[in-house]
Amino acid sequence: MDNRKIGVFDSGLGGLTAVKEIMSLFPDESIVYFGDTGRVPYGTRSKETILKYTYDDINFLLSCDVKMIVIACGTASSAALPEIKTEFNVPIYGVVDSGAYEAARVTKNNKIGIIGTTATIKSGAYNKYLAEYNNKVQTFEKACPLFVPLVENGHFDTPVTKLVVEEYLKDIKDAGVDTLILGCTHYPLLKSAISKYMGDDVTLVSPGEEVAKFLRKKITPLNAHSEIRDRDQYSYYVSDSIENFEELGGIFLETKINGKVNKIDIEKY
Ligand code: DGL
Repeated sequence: MDNRKIGVFDSGLGGLTAVKEIMSLFPDESIVYFGDTGRVPYGTRSKETILKYTYDDINFLLSCDVKMIVIACGTASSAALPEIKTEFNVPIYGVVDSGAYEAARVTKNNKIGIIGTTATIKSGAYNKYLAEYNNKVQTFEKACPLFVPLVENGHFDTPVTKLVVEEYLKDIKDAGVDTLILGCTHYPLLKSAISKYMGDDVTLVSPGEEVAKFLRKKITPLNAHSEIRDRDQYSYYVSDSIENFEELGGIFLETKINGKVNKIDIEKY
């Protein structure tokens, strides 16, 4: 039995796509979430900066006495995780491996689209894992930096989102992919707009959800949280305005999180 929490972080709201799935698959587990809303976006920054932010975020979660850490951020998983993986004494899981695994599993025509932040696409991380799982795969990539601010400002499926989706995804759609990796954890919040444009025949893979499924192998029933659930089962921290996160996070999680979000100074960690 290990009653410690699972630590999850992202640059903002995107990591909630992993949190939602962890809550649903492991209702007895406790979660502490950090969204680095004061420093979002990560995806347009240099590798050095992403590394520094990743260290800070992990150190904060370790101060909350977590038993494992999920990097629910495609950017930090691609650009930082390979370097820092073995430096901490709790297991750390990223979203790239499980996302690539699922895409390689579901594609029928072996044409896979990959969208992500500039740093994620530049890292080639999804291609690397895809090649390991299916060497026949042909990939079509596109960095979509405007998607993150759309999400952080609540433009989940509005006319402006539709325009940006078309602009970014046209070439990938024309290439005839049957699978699209939403390689930034913010992007599933735009799923409805993306899916309308790509069509029903294209499977959208959400690496945030996939990492939660992957945790099944890591969390056994024996170490499930056994104590009576209380309001502390899920706690949320941000590095900037609480209100925006409470409002949009609550909409996405389909539950009120008001009063459960705290602000921290991440530079101290
Ligand atoms: N949600 C993150 C990702 O998966 C970060 C987006 C950003 O901050 O640029 O890449």
